[in-house]
Amino acid sequence: MVKTTISVIKADVGSIAGHGLAHPALLKKCEEILENAKEEELLMDYYVTNCGDDTELIMTHRNGEENEDIHKLAWHAFIEATKIAKELKLYGAGQDLLADTFSGNIKGMGPGVAEMEFKERPSDPVVIFACDKTEPGAFNLPIYKMFADPFNTAGLVIDSSLHNGFKFEIFDVMEHKKVFMSCPDEMYDLLALLGTTNRYVIKRIWRRDDNEIAASVSTERLNLMAGKYVGKDDPVAIVRSQSGFPAAGEVVEPFAFPHLVGGWMRGSHNGPLMPVAQKNAYPVRFDGPPRVIAMGFQIADSKLIGPADMFDDPAYDRSRVLASEIAEYMRRHGPFEPHRLPADEMEYTTLPGVLEKLQDRFEDID
Ligand code: 13P
Ligand code: 13P
Ligand code: MG
Ligand code: MG
Repeated sequence: MVKTTISVIKADVGSIAGHGLAHPALLKKCEEILENAKEEELLMDYYVTNCGDDTELIMTHRNGEENEDIHKLAWHAFIEATKIAKELKLYGAGQDLLADTFSGNIKGMGPGVAEMEFKERPSDPVVIFACDKTEPGAFNLPIYKMFADPFNTAGLVIDSSLHNGFKFEIFDVMEHKKVFMSCPDEMYDLLALLGTTNRYVIKRIWRRDDNEIAASVSTERLNLMAGKYVGKDDPVAIVRSQSGFPAAGEVVEPFAFPHLVGGWMRGSHNGPLMPVAQKNAYPVRFDGPPRVIAMGFQIADSKLIGPADMFDDPAYDRSRVLASEIAEYMRRHGPFEPHRLPADEMEYTTLPGVLEKLQDRFEDID
């Protein structure tokens, strides 16, 4: 039984001007390298794009998840793109590459990874999401809605092929633990975790009826890996749709609500996640607001047919206007919470230095 693997591996390896836009020369270099890999039959197909300053490698192959050759290929592409980024003195050249040499699995080395392997259905629509200026927990709310909220996904109620619900794998990214929970039965317990978006993140989802893979999210948290601020961990996700999964329109529906996510300026602010066409995946205002793009593909014998730029749709105009209004409202708070993240979630902070300076001046309150 031939199975197809989709591997989406992304990294910020340099951008113009500041943390804005991945330079086209970087995408071109990655395309050249993936084209070679396709000629050598390591890859079946590929598509290279960017969301803001993040370069996304979308790859199909027959080697399964966590394959060393595929991960090494992505690492090599990012290293070569970084060389160009350094020549052009791009901003944050090699930002997300935390190691000097490849060590067998790209996980833990900086880039974000979402992968899934499945036997193709007669027709297999897949939506690939990429975000900039936010973190993996940004997917908790929309992916929860896709797979567990009947007010979003009509199919949960009216389509017997998904009526029995989905199983969620949740990572605790602080403690490096995971837990499996099923919906609808454990919905309230699940939400108790998922609301803490900087700690509990959805990793994967399966259909309960037959354990078929439905969704996969990158959960790498760069700042936790490096132990210091090295950039936000802008996430990607792969979601299968139709025929036993949420319809394509149900998969993109949650993003009509531009919910607040952590990220934005200096990775230290809450702001609305704005759904945009790929050409608008360029976060400018206060380095934001955070963006998400949706690429719709059909998978055909491990080839990527597409993409359709799914948020390039006037039906999302109102969401974008709303996101702009929320951005304006949040910005007015300046350095105050809840626009600025709580102290322990900020990507960088002067607070310890300020406290140290004031240490002798703090007096007891009587
Ligand atoms: P089809 O009948 O073409 O599968 O479409 C149904 C559907 O999912 C529309 O949302
Ligand atoms: P990126 O994580 O997208 O590189 O952005 C970092 C930042 O500091 C934006 O202000
Ligand atoms: Mg950057
Ligand atoms: Mg980024």
